[in-house]
Amino acid sequence: MAISGLKGRSLLSLREFSGDEIRELLNRAADLKERSTLGQNAPVLAGKNIALIFLKPSCRTRVSFVVASTQSGAHAEIFNREDIRFGIKESVRDIARVFGRVFDGVMFRGFEHATVAEFAEYAGVPVWNGLCDSYHPTQVLADLLTLQENFGDLEGLPLTYVGDGRNNMAITLGIAAAKVGLDLRILSPKELQPAPGVIDELLVNRESEQARVLVTDSLEEALAGSACVYGDVWVSMGEEDQTQERINLLRDLKVTNDVMALSGRKDTIYLHCLPAFHLLDTETARAYPDICEVDDDVFEGDRSRVFDQSENRMHTAKALMQLTIAG
Ligand code: CP
Ligand code: NVA
Repeated sequence: MAISGLKGRSLLSLREFSGDEIRELLNRAADLKERSTLGQNAPVLAGKNIALIFLKPSCRTRVSFVVASTQSGAHAEIFNREDIRFGIKESVRDIARVFGRVFDGVMFRGFEHATVAEFAEYAGVPVWNGLCDSYHPTQVLADLLTLQENFGDLEGLPLTYVGDGRNNMAITLGIAAAKVGLDLRILSPKELQPAPGVIDELLVNRESEQARVLVTDSLEEALAGSACVYGDVWVSMGEEDQTQERINLLRDLKVTNDVMALSGRKDTIYLHCLPAFHLLDTETARAYPDICEVDDDVFEGDRSRVFDQSENRMHTAKALMQLTIAG
């Protein structure tokens, strides 16, 4: 297994890391999690400065990278959309070069993937994609750690993603499947399924014989034998004008205890990247009472691991920053 070959590298879609490098990072994250619980955080990044750029809002990504930086001995500075006016007053490449001269690593949450890719090209320091319209690799690292904690080996593990099959979560889980050998089923209505070429590209580059990516609109086919049902909001950030249309397309795929039971397994867990609609306790949910992608019974039930998964954002962010900055 590669040891510390990650120094100086960026994480933009997850394609950049090999399956072995992902496993190395997950093992480091598990070790850091244990040390953190024992109060044994080592200042591996003492004296380093981390920039966190948010062009879209965030809760988990922000708290994860801030606390992971602090626990590693580094300083994290946050920049919101109004602080950095990409493409309005200054080009992406000029801002990237300024940040690269001053910071040791940059977490970037934006819109088009091309922007974070251009930023990484010019920054000259590790850049970590904290979500764009196409990918969410720092989330998927936490997802894989949570799966590893629950099931051990990831090779051949059946996982069912339910929702918009073209979005950042579905595609990044597909890349992960090809890298570490997951048996991924993407359950989506035909209108929201990824283009066949996208899945073909993932599988051509698979690193494990066990890697599978099935796209289907059949609940039975997607759920049979599944170890994990994975949820996401039906409407991603920036697509709010399509809310009613998405509800109409996805309402039959709401995850209930009956849907969970279709796995035929007693140990099937529920994961969700969050934020989630599971109760009508937010402004958006009150405006769209059918927007919940998961029943509260499942979200709060004993099969749910969503807050372990959320905590794992911090441990995997810490491993990612330490390995790519310090090696
Ligand atoms: N899962 C996730 O990325 O959450 P935030 O949007 O709150 O950062
Ligand atoms: N698909 C969601 C993921 C949120 C973590 C979005 O882009 O809004």
